[in-house]
Amino acid sequence: MKELLINTDEPYRVLVGRGLLRDMGQWLRAAGAPAARALIVTDTHVGPLYAQTVADALSAGDCAADIFTVPAGEEYKTPETLISICRELARLEYTRRDLVVALGGGVVGDMAGFASAVYQRGMRFVQCPTTLLSAVDASVGGKTAVDLPEGKNMIGAFHQPSLVVCDTGTFATLPPQRMSDGAAEIIKHAAIADEALFAQMRSEDWQRTPDDIVARNVAIKRSFVIGDERDQGKRQMLNFGHTIGHAVEAWSGYTLSHGQSVAIGMVMEMRAARRLGLSGVHEAPMVEALRANHLPVSTEATPEVLLRYALHDKKRQQRQISLTVLREWGKAELVSVELDDFLRFIEAGGGA
Ligand SMILES: NC(=O)c1ccc[n+]([C@@H]2O[C@H](COP(=O)([O-])OP(=O)(O)OC[C@H]3O[C@@H](n4cnc5c(N)ncnc54)[C@H](O)[C@@H]3O)[C@@H](O)[C@H]2O)c1
Ligand SMILES: [Zn+2]
Repeated sequence: MKELLINTDEPYRVLVGRGLLRDMGQWLRAAGAPAARALIVTDTHVGPLYAQTVADALSAGDCAADIFTVPAGEEYKTPETLISICRELARLEYTRRDLVVALGGGVVGDMAGFASAVYQRGMRFVQCPTTLLSAVDASVGGKTAVDLPEGKNMIGAFHQPSLVVCDTGTFATLPPQRMSDGAAEIIKHAAIADEALFAQMRSEDWQRTPDDIVARNVAIKRSFVIGDERDQGKRQMLNFGHTIGHAVEAWSGYTLSHGQSVAIGMVMEMRAARRLGLSGVHEAPMVEALRANHLPVSTEATPEVLLRYALHDKKRQQRQISLTVLREWGKAELVSVELDDFLRFIEAGGGA
């Protein structure tokens, strides 16, 4: 098992290893987060596979467990589902001293995390990520949210978990496309912070050592989150590929996954930065790494259309757009592009 400490205002541990869900009660006690009761929030795909294992492990550790299953999928990451979780907590008379266990991918983690941030003005929660993407990205950092019809993650809270338990054995039941989505975020982390990891991502061999890969990614995410928990400065570098990526994702009507969209976004942002003299790093190795992990590297969307979608992005700041560019592999910096120049930037990112 690998163990990392996340030194936020209230520090917490991330445990990574195969089969960890079977000993949940033990991890809670070791983390100093024992609870008399825990509501396991999961979804209709993950629940039947793993919820009973977690409930049994909690019971064995003297923690009474209830299970609440929400419908699977981003389309259910809504205020309505959030309220249903809060109402289940209320119906079962949970108090602030009890615990929420988020068992699932990023959707469940974001939603159950948000419920625990607002139920009775806040209670503790534990993240048990079961997708590669949530393991390497969503489960660490304390961002929780639900979507509105007007946009993704429109209401939410910063609320750090008390513990993250990542059982990498759960990846065995993930569809291959979901592994690719996680790979896109790993390649992002590697490009901006870890050259050796980037080299490893140029083939699929990394899948043989998931514990090591997850732990290294958590360490990278930690390095950007610590000191910037509220996303004012260096944490923004994690948006590498995401400005154009979010535009591609919205343009596709979400038929392209987040990982696929970010893959395209990273290639376009790198090519544009190189062509406009903002970065000296060529995007060819990025294209190779993405292709090796079955991710797309280009889009049919026109620059004008992408600009329109990009301008809807909530992360836009006044007249300038903040973008992450690579100084070299494994090193990144933030640059500002005038909004008026952003169409030219997107145009420069197209082609081959
Ligand atoms: N909070 C953050 O910092 C942060 C960061 C990145 C992404 N996110 C959010 O995460 C979400 C995406 O997360 P995701 O990609 O994990 O999606 P997801 O939670 O929808 O999971 C993907 C699919 O896989 C299923 N699934 C999950 N684990 C499984 C397993 N082990 N075996 C079989 N099926 C399984 C789920 O039921 C779902 O159908 C988005 O809503 C995004 O906004 C949040
Ligand atoms: Zn992302």
